Amino acid sequence: MFSRVLTHSLHVSLSIPHYADELYELTDRNRQFLRRWLPWLDGVQSAEDTRRFLALQVQRFARGESLHVTIFSQGSIAGVAAFNSIDRTNGIGSIGYWLGEEFNGKGIMTSVVRDLVELGRTYYSLQKVEIRCATGNLRSRAIPERLGFRHEGTLRRAERVYEQWFDHEVYALLIDPLVGGQGDQANEF
Ligand SMILES: CC(C)(COP(=O)(O)OP(=O)(O)OC[C@H]1O[C@@H](n2cnc3c(N)ncnc32)[C@H](O)[C@@H]1OP(=O)(O)O)[C@@H](O)C(=O)NCCC(=O)NCCS
Repeated sequence: MFSRVLTHSLHVSLSIPHYADELYELTDRNRQFLRRWLPWLDGVQSAEDTRRFLALQVQRFARGESLHVTIFSQGSIAGVAAFNSIDRTNGIGSIGYWLGEEFNGKGIMTSVVRDLVELGRTYYSLQKVEIRCATGNLRSRAIPERLGFRHEGTLRRAERVYEQWFDHEVYALLIDPLVGGQGDQANEF
């Protein structure tokens, strides 16, 4: 599997089932924190569930459908990030992510998303990267905003998280200028 070193204390590796025990432990420890915004917590009740999920990610990576990475801070798993979908026809990748609460506030996810954009450009020839965040999820929205993504609009009642419906704010970054067009990356990124 590949790894990319982002700083002396931060690296990402392609997610593989080998990480299941530690990733499940992080998920379980952060259940309450993650439930606020993520809808899948009740479906993850054991390390076996996480192992199955990671095995599926490997298959989807092999098919070119997604790219899921595990984030390591000082050698410990801090969270994950992914191109959850890669639309090869249109050159559009859609990013999602989460971190354990104790790894928030250090700039980790901003660095990881910046690197995912580079991976998308280099290996998948993406021309557009999208991030969708629940309207009230200000920490998540701050990441595309920090990286110079543009706000494209609001999708109403886009996601059900337990008993609530959330609107989604859609952010996108145009990577390379299309013919007659303009990329977004000039200064901000
Ligand atoms: C969304 C989530 C990943 C954001 O985490 P985060 O720690 O705020 O994001 P980053 O890792 O990019 O860190 C940014 C923070 O580190 C600070 N920081 C420190 N050094 C930094 C650096 N070099 N670069 C950027 N930010 C830095 C920033 O000021 C910011 O903190 P602040 O909000 O208190 O000002 C996290 O809150 C999470 O996993 N939430 C639950 C799941 C979720 O909502 N997922 C997204 C669904 S769309």
